Amino acid sequence: MAVDLLLGLQWGDEGKGKIVDVLTKDYDIIARFQGGPNAGHTLEFDGIKHVLHTIPSGIFHKNAMNIVGNGVVIDPVIFKKELDALDAFNIDIKSKLLISRKAHLILPTHRLLDAASETSKGKAKIGSTLKGIGPTYMDKTGRNGMRIGDLELSNWKEKYRALANKHEAMIGFYNVDIQYDLKELESEFFNSIKLLKTLTFIDSEEYLYQAQKSGKKILAEGAQGSLLDIDFGTYPFVTSSNTTAAGACTGLGVAPNKIGDVKGIFKAYTTRVGSGPFPTELFDKDGETMGRVGNEFGATTGRPRRCGWLDLVALKYAVNVNGVTELMMMKGDVLSGFKKLKVCTAYKYKGETISHLPYNIESENVTPIYTEMKGWSEDLTKMTKVEELPATLIDYIDFLEKELEVPIKIVSVGPDRTQTIHR
Ligand code: GDP
Ligand code: IMO
Ligand code: MG
Repeated sequence: MAVDLLLGLQWGDEGKGKIVDVLTKDYDIIARFQGGPNAGHTLEFDGIKHVLHTIPSGIFHKNAMNIVGNGVVIDPVIFKKELDALDAFNIDIKSKLLISRKAHLILPTHRLLDAASETSKGKAKIGSTLKGIGPTYMDKTGRNGMRIGDLELSNWKEKYRALANKHEAMIGFYNVDIQYDLKELESEFFNSIKLLKTLTFIDSEEYLYQAQKSGKKILAEGAQGSLLDIDFGTYPFVTSSNTTAAGACTGLGVAPNKIGDVKGIFKAYTTRVGSGPFPTELFDKDGETMGRVGNEFGATTGRPRRCGWLDLVALKYAVNVNGVTELMMMKGDVLSGFKKLKVCTAYKYKGETISHLPYNIESENVTPIYTEMKGWSEDLTKMTKVEELPATLIDYIDFLEKELEVPIKIVSVGPDRTQTIHR
């Protein structure tokens, strides 16, 4: 049985949490493959909004097993908060959530290193979520990291101490003013690890291999978005993992020839939180409207998201890098009321018109070239069928499908589970 993927195609926050929740009824296993608590995946149903950071978005369904894969980095403190928030919902966490022994641990000092690094960069900062993501992946690739499986060893605290001491020395090198009380942070950390250790740790690659063999349906849930990928994103303003399709292979141990559908998700416009280039960014009333109507504030940090028109040059790039087989368009409802919509179909780059994403997309290098389209004024949020969608929205969808050469299978018209139109 092939493993399907669900990936964000922009700079994150496309609505992955909502769609994974919608699709979970068709799957036996939902597996997160990269990222950590820098992610904020929002789900809404029965009038309640949930935000998940590390736990896969299938957790509210009885039918599915949820796996935190080896490619994920886990902060026990944030993990505990997520689990505490789920307490009220009567979920049998111990039998519904499994954690890879090979997933790496975010230490309190990783968070401090993230803060020290960002502070030292001044204006050039990445705009990190300050969750310790970069330093944890650096320790992973530097072969110094601590893994979930280490917690099963009797000497894990010694390993912890050695690494934390090294981190403290490194914080000193940055020569910036970072205030912290490590004793307090450690007390919270050790306390959270107690809860983490009550969960089931597995060799997730073997578990998933056997699951595939026995015909189980698996959906791999991505975090962040393709333009934040460490290799293919807008480096250095990216995250520290492979957010693209290949990341699911390394982050779960799924062989490339076992990948099935690649579901790519995008907003009908574009947002970005944190620093870095964003060619179609708007600084006018239209951008302000998108932010206000779309409630564009980071689910993890609460920071306002930068907003702009849909960028098809960047989206095509993401479709190609991931091998997307079907698309999902989110938040079309937010664009209701715009008389005209713009879609970027090419860039002016060094005096030439190009339709691929060049090495450098800083604003001094690229100017977006737009195609204008008619907007729609209807409120989409109560619509449930394709036939109800306004003609101008259908034109917008048809235009995107033609440009991207991939069908748009889901049109999302609101944050709730039910506000989802299948085509
Ligand atoms: P994720 O990180 O990709 O899971 O996305 P986030 O949860 O960070 O951000 C998406 C936001 O948009 C959340 O607040 C969702 O509840 C909301 N959302 C998702 N789909 C839609 C939609 O179709 N319309 C509207 N208005 N909001 C949506
Ligand atoms: P989800 O899964 C949007 C951004 C940060 C910053 C950069 C690096 O909810 O879509 P990091 O903390 O990883 O070192 O930050 O990446 N970023 C996200 N932006 N959605 C996310 O996740 C993000 N995770 C990280 O804002 O610009
Ligand atoms: Mg998010």
